[in-house]
Amino acid sequence: MNEYLDLGLITSFVPAASSFAGDIDFLFDLITIIVGFWFVITLATLFYFMIRFRRREGVKALYISGEKHSEKVWTHYPHYGVIAFDVFLIGFVIVVWVNVKQTLPANEDTIRAIGQQWSWSFVHTGADGKLDTEDDVNTVNDLHVIKDNTYHFELQSRDVLHNFAIPAFRLRQDTIPGRTIRGWFKPTISGTFDLQCAEICGRGHSMMFAAITVHPDRKSYDETMDAIRAGTYESHFEKKRQLGPVPLPFTVSKSEADSPYAIELAQSF
Ligand code: CUA
Repeated sequence: MNEYLDLGLITSFVPAASSFAGDIDFLFDLITIIVGFWFVITLATLFYFMIRFRRREGVKALYISGEKHSEKVWTHYPHYGVIAFDVFLIGFVIVVWVNVKQTLPANEDTIRAIGQQWSWSFVHTGADGKLDTEDDVNTVNDLHVIKDNTYHFELQSRDVLHNFAIPAFRLRQDTIPGRTIRGWFKPTISGTFDLQCAEICGRGHSMMFAAITVHPDRKSYDETMDAIRAGTYESHFEKKRQLGPVPLPFTVSKSEADSPYAIELAQSF
């Protein structure tokens, strides 16, 4: 779908790093064009009328109630146009929704992401490709995958609603306590990307960010997994955090500084 239209509105800010990122961008572009079309028409009409029927000496203003058919059509016809565009848009939306959210393609591997106030825990399957076995690799705020492999994810939450969001993948999915939510993604560009919580989940929400590293090949991935097991891995998340102090999203008053929240926050730094 994305071959037909790519305005680059989003890719100029965030790379499109998953197989379905282009489809999501296509919808954004389509919405921008459709809304932009009506925006220009509406404002052009407004300004034309403002100038054309501006106040003139000796001309009295006319009160228009909008009840006559000839007056109502000014609302009705544009309304039909908007509905037609909406139906056109919804057609594309359904196709993308079914592909991205309702279809679970065959996968190479599975990861589990567990949200909690305020960090992400990740489980990688290890050599056997299965979760909940001896060789699982657990990490905090640091997820690893391999380029061009399809992953299923299992999302869980230990406390409240969180949202597993990887902007470069155009992926967002809520995590809900007591439920395991499944979905998929296929990274198409190697590198380290932001992974962040996108659901207000308490006062530490803005600090609930992590990193996802897309390895170019299995060798690089396996070396990292071995380093994590051996305790010698230097996390991308830590590196990023060390680039500068994380700004506090709020100020802690003297009395609050001793609260369990503040202590928990301090420990999360
Ligand atoms: Cu977790 Cu916001």
